[in-house]
Amino acid sequence: VAGATPNANRVVRVHNADRLVHGLRLAAATPLPLLRQVADALVGEMCAGLEEEGGSDQLKMLPSYVENLPTGDEEGLFYAVDLGGTNFRVLRLHLGGKGQVLSQESKEIAIPRELMVGTGKDLFDFIANTLATFVDTEDILLDSKSNKHREAGFAFSFPVRQTSVKSGNVIQWTKGFKIDDAIGKDIVKQFQDAISRSGHDVEISALVNDTVGTLAGGRYNFQEETMIGCILGTGTNACYVERADAVKKWKEALPKSGEMVINLEWGNFRSPWLPRTFADDEVDKESVNPGDQWFEKMVSGMYLGEIVRHMLLRLAEEATLFGDTVPEKLREQQSLETKHVSKIHADISSELQTVATVLHEVLRIHDTTLEQRRIVHSLCDMVGQRGGRLAAAGLYGILKKIGRAGPNKNGFALSRQKKTTVVAMDGGLYEHHHPYRKYMEDALQELVGTNGPYEVFLRLQNDGSGIGAALLAASHSRHRQTE
Ligand code: GLC
Repeated sequence: VAGATPNANRVVRVHNADRLVHGLRLAAATPLPLLRQVADALVGEMCAGLEEEGGSDQLKMLPSYVENLPTGDEEGLFYAVDLGGTNFRVLRLHLGGKGQVLSQESKEIAIPRELMVGTGKDLFDFIANTLATFVDTEDILLDSKSNKHREAGFAFSFPVRQTSVKSGNVIQWTKGFKIDDAIGKDIVKQFQDAISRSGHDVEISALVNDTVGTLAGGRYNFQEETMIGCILGTGTNACYVERADAVKKWKEALPKSGEMVINLEWGNFRSPWLPRTFADDEVDKESVNPGDQWFEKMVSGMYLGEIVRHMLLRLAEEATLFGDTVPEKLREQQSLETKHVSKIHADISSELQTVATVLHEVLRIHDTTLEQRRIVHSLCDMVGQRGGRLAAAGLYGILKKIGRAGPNKNGFALSRQKKTTVVAMDGGLYEHHHPYRKYMEDALQELVGTNGPYEVFLRLQNDGSGIGAALLAASHSRHRQTE
C-alpha cells in the first residue's frame, strides 16, 4: 500500500489472510446435514460393494474370513507381526484362558524408507529377521508338546483380497508404500518364505487387517457389543460385523456363526459431499497414489500436516502472511507433520507460545506476531475439526447400515430399548490428537443423538491390531482346532 506505515501494511496483510482463511473455512465446513449426507453416501457404497465383486468402485468391502472372534478362552503362547504404518511391531502374548493375558511383550521399529518402495523380498526379509530375533528372546517355559513351532497372527494393514483366514493377495498399496512386485501375490506366502529363509519355524495362522485385529481385541476386552473396529492413525479404515446373508457377493459356504467381518477400506471413499479444498487436490497430486484414498487423505495422520502446509503456503504467497518472502520450509514436502499440527491445535494459551515454537523450530519462521499465530492455529483447528467430524460421519454410516443408529430405511427406529454398540478404536491420531478426538466424539454423539434408542461407546483398544492378530492366531490355531 503506497505511503502506508509498516504497521498498516501488516494490517492489510492479515486482513487478506483472514479473507482467505474465511474462504477455506466455508469450503471445509462440516455442518450436521452434510455429515448425514456423507454417511448416507457411504451406506450406498457399502451396499453396492456387498452386492458383487467390484460393485462399488470406492469401497472394496472385503470379507475377512474371520469366523471365530476371540471369546476369552484362548490359551497358549502366540506371536503377532503388525505391519501397516511407518512403524512395524512384533508381539508375544501369553494367554491363560478366562480372558487372562499372563504376559505381553513387544518391540517396535521404524521401517527404513527405502524398504517402503523397494521389493517384496527385501521388505519381508527385513520383517522376518526382526521377528526371528524377537522369537530368540523368548524365555517363557513351554510345555513339552509345543517344541519350537510357533504360531503368529499377521496384521497387514493394506487392502488384501483374502482367499482364506491365512492367505490373501495384495490389491494395492496405500500410505506411502509402493512395492509393485508384491501386488497380486499371496502376502502370507511371501512372508512365510522369508521366515523359512531366517531358519525359524513360525506359522502364520491368521492374516488380518488392522481394523479386524482391533475389533477382535475389542471383543476380547469389551465383549460382544463390539461391532466395529476403526483405525485413525497414519491411515484410516474401519471394519464391522455384518450378517453373512447380506454379503451377496459371497459364493462360499456361509459361516456357522451367520456373521462375517467386513473390511470396508473406507480410505478410498469419495463423494461429492466431501468438503474438499484446493489443499486436498495438492496433497493428492503429490502423493504416490493420486486419485486414490480421498477420504483417507482428508482424515488420517499421514496427510493432516501436508494439508495445513499447503494452506500456509498459499497464505504466504497470496497474502504475504509471513512477510515479503515465502518461508522456504513451506515448499518442502512433509516439513510439517501431523504431530506438529496436533501440538499447535492443542495450544490454548493466550499468547499461543507453542505455536510460536513450532513455527520457529519446524518451519524456521521466526518472530511471529500473535495475529499470525492465530491464523496458523485456526487452520490446524479447521483441518482437525473436518477430519474428526468426517471420521464420525463414517462411523455413523456403518452404525446405520447395521441398524444401530438413526431411523432404519422404513423411517422408524428398530427398537424402543437402548441398544449399545461399542466401537474399538486404535491409531495414534485417535490416541494422541486430543482436540481431533473430541471433535470426532462430539460429532458422533450429535449424529446418533442422546435421547433415541441407541448408544455408542468408543473404546481405545491400545495396540489393538497386534494384540488382536495374536488373539485371532489363537482362535484360528490349527492345533487348537484339532485338539
Ligand atoms: C489404509 C489401508 C487399510 C488400513 C488403514 C489403517 O487405509 O489401506 O488397510 O486398515 O490404512 O491402517
